[in-house]
Amino acid sequence: MVTRITFSVDRSHAVKDQGEGKYMSDKPYQDKSVIVTGASSGIGRALALRLADQGAWIELAARDAQRLDVLAAECCQRGGKAIAVPTDVTDEAQCKVLIERAVAEFGRLDVLINNAGIGATGLLEELPDLTLFKRVMDVNFFGTLHCTYYAVKHLKQTQGRLVNISSMAGKSPLPYNSNYNASKYAVHGFSDSLRMELAQAGVSVTLICPYWVVTEFHERLMDKNGTPRGPQGRAVYNQKTMTADQCAAITLKAAARRKREVLMGPGWTAVWLRIIAPGLADKITIEMVLKPVVRRAKKAQSTG
Ligand SMILES: NC(=O)c1ccc[n+]([C@@H]2O[C@H](COP(=O)([O-])OP(=O)(O)OC[C@H]3O[C@@H](n4cnc5c(N)ncnc54)[C@H](OP(=O)(O)O)[C@@H]3O)[C@@H](O)[C@H]2O)c1
Repeated sequence: MVTRITFSVDRSHAVKDQGEGKYMSDKPYQDKSVIVTGASSGIGRALALRLADQGAWIELAARDAQRLDVLAAECCQRGGKAIAVPTDVTDEAQCKVLIERAVAEFGRLDVLINNAGIGATGLLEELPDLTLFKRVMDVNFFGTLHCTYYAVKHLKQTQGRLVNISSMAGKSPLPYNSNYNASKYAVHGFSDSLRMELAQAGVSVTLICPYWVVTEFHERLMDKNGTPRGPQGRAVYNQKTMTADQCAAITLKAAARRKREVLMGPGWTAVWLRIIAPGLADKITIEMVLKPVVRRAKKAQSTG
């Protein structure tokens, strides 16, 4: 199989092709059984709606049962089948039930999209203890691991697709975010290793690395004490920031074509700089990101 590197037309994301997918149907997810974790908001919700438009059978997972029920009804109205299965992905037993329920309900599993994710900011030395760090790892990495572990045998039966929503932070680290970076790097190492294990069985593994996307993520982003930023978190977005629907569209297309990895937004230049000149990348990031962030945090502390 030939691996090639291509750059998409809108130059906002680079795509490494795992092969396959030249002749794709316009509804590749029709009558496919798909699990989406983190479906109650943001990218997960947008994925579910796009899947419903194609007539997919979707199992919606997240903790917020009420939101999932509303979304399930919307998916059914749009032509999909949908069931809501409230799940905390940090709980391995709940993830096992999640996977088994999809197979029981739809008869098989074609696609697992591990999308649930959270983040926290702060210097490592300032964290009061490691609870928050471990919580981020639990959701972002262990949540992905739990669902994947129980899904693999079913995906092998359908030559299915595993899709892990990571981040540019899984390719290029940012200081002040070591918990989030560590969790997403773990997702990358896991996915890249598993891709080889599953290749012969015909199961593809697609890593999605968004740059910033307009969702609830930055409102929920926690400080070192676990307090969410709230509405001011949205200040990072501007008119050019990708919408959740755009991100979902790119994700579903890449997974249908069994792409290896999709990098989105301007972050891919940082990824290349890090490969070519990692020391320089560190210096630039310290000046442009770490120092301003620490200055702002100190100022907020002294005025607050
Ligand atoms: N937005 C961005 O700028 C951006 C950039 C790069 C990567 N990403 C990644 O994209 C993914 C989706 O995030 P988003 O931007 O759509 O943020 P979001 O709107 O905050 O959605 C996060 C989803 O994860 C779910 N979730 C959180 N903890 C969970 C748990 N313990 N068990 C199950 N579900 C849980 C949330 O639902 P409940 O609270 O109902 O459980 C929610 O549905 C994440 O993996 C994130 O790291 C986002």
